[in-house]
Amino acid sequence: MKALVLAGGFGTRLRPLSCTRPKMLFPVANQPLLDWTLKNLSEGGVDTVILAVNYMAEALVRYLGPTKFDLGIIYSREERPLGTGGPIKKAADLLQNGGPFLVLNGDVISDIDYRRLVEFHRRKGGLATIALFQVPDPSRYGAVELDGEGRILRFVEKPEPGRAPSNLVNAGIYVLDPKVIDYIPEGRSVSTENEVFPVLAKEGALYGYEARGLWMDIGVPEDYLRANGLLLAKLDGVQVGEKSKVDSSAEVLPPSSIGAGVEVGANSVIGPNTSIADHVHIGRGCRIENSIIFPGATIGDYTSVRNAIIGENATLERWVKVESGSLIGDYAVIADGVTITQGVSICPSKRVEESILEPRQVM
Ligand code: GDD
Ligand code: MG
Repeated sequence: MKALVLAGGFGTRLRPLSCTRPKMLFPVANQPLLDWTLKNLSEGGVDTVILAVNYMAEALVRYLGPTKFDLGIIYSREERPLGTGGPIKKAADLLQNGGPFLVLNGDVISDIDYRRLVEFHRRKGGLATIALFQVPDPSRYGAVELDGEGRILRFVEKPEPGRAPSNLVNAGIYVLDPKVIDYIPEGRSVSTENEVFPVLAKEGALYGYEARGLWMDIGVPEDYLRANGLLLAKLDGVQVGEKSKVDSSAEVLPPSSIGAGVEVGANSVIGPNTSIADHVHIGRGCRIENSIIFPGATIGDYTSVRNAIIGENATLERWVKVESGSLIGDYAVIADGVTITQGVSICPSKRVEESILEPRQVM
């Protein structure tokens, strides 16, 4: 079975983190998001993945190459972003012949059982089946109205608060019959959610499969951090990579993962729900909690990082505080004594010398 993974597009609050690393390669529990996805696809009976790429395509090609986890990987490159539907049309030659195929949003992480989803799709005999998860606030997603048979009567993309037909949302995981390709216009950007699903729903050919378990779209810092914490909890305990030196007076609280070649200084406390990538240097007396630190970052003495994401090779000097959903971009430098809080995003390579205490993006 084939799967097309949507790995392009720009719109994400996490974008300021990196100019070189697409979000599908952001680490979740110290492993790129895409690895989790590909592993689960491989276990779910998929043999070939078509990766629909545009923005930062080369980084993906370089990282994955032609095969991974026993999957053949084919790259479908868009000159211009084609949205969520256009890439399916573009890959029509690869998808047309044969049975149903999977389509996935590349920015979601889940432990869904693809075999069950495909089995449900075949049993219902519709043209498309959407995997659905229950969420507290459906307004950031596509929400559906289901009938007793599992048929989707209505599909509403990004419903206004209070106007969603239910709390069951599109997981960004679909099984499509090749006939669905005919519903997608050619040569332009197409939104499957706005242009294809509502039509299929009207025709009674769209089904919804309610899945349970782990599912998250990592598009905003809070969810990215939560996904990281949940996967760390699945790995259980504390992992420490090769050649890492954690001072005997430092503590690592589970669940946490520390990569290879990491140094942690005296009296620092790391965790819970924290992943520290390879070659990160952490000084003495630091506190790092519920956070993700990308490779090569330097964290100076007495600095604290809570509910935050620190990009590759970024430097936090001494007595720095980074908190509350803030992002520090790759190679950025936060000077001694600065506090960054309330969802602030610092773009790559910036130097910040004064505290920022209200939500804003520093370009
Ligand atoms: N190749 C390619 N080209 N991929 C794209 C493009 C593009 O032009 N535009 C977006 N993508 C990819 C994104 O990288 C992401 O993996 C996926 O398509 C969905 O785009 P998002 O921008 O993340 O959409 P969303 O999160 O607001 O909403 C979508 O996902 C929700 C679930 O997470 C919708 O499908 C919702 O209905 C759904 O509930
Ligand atoms: Mg998304």
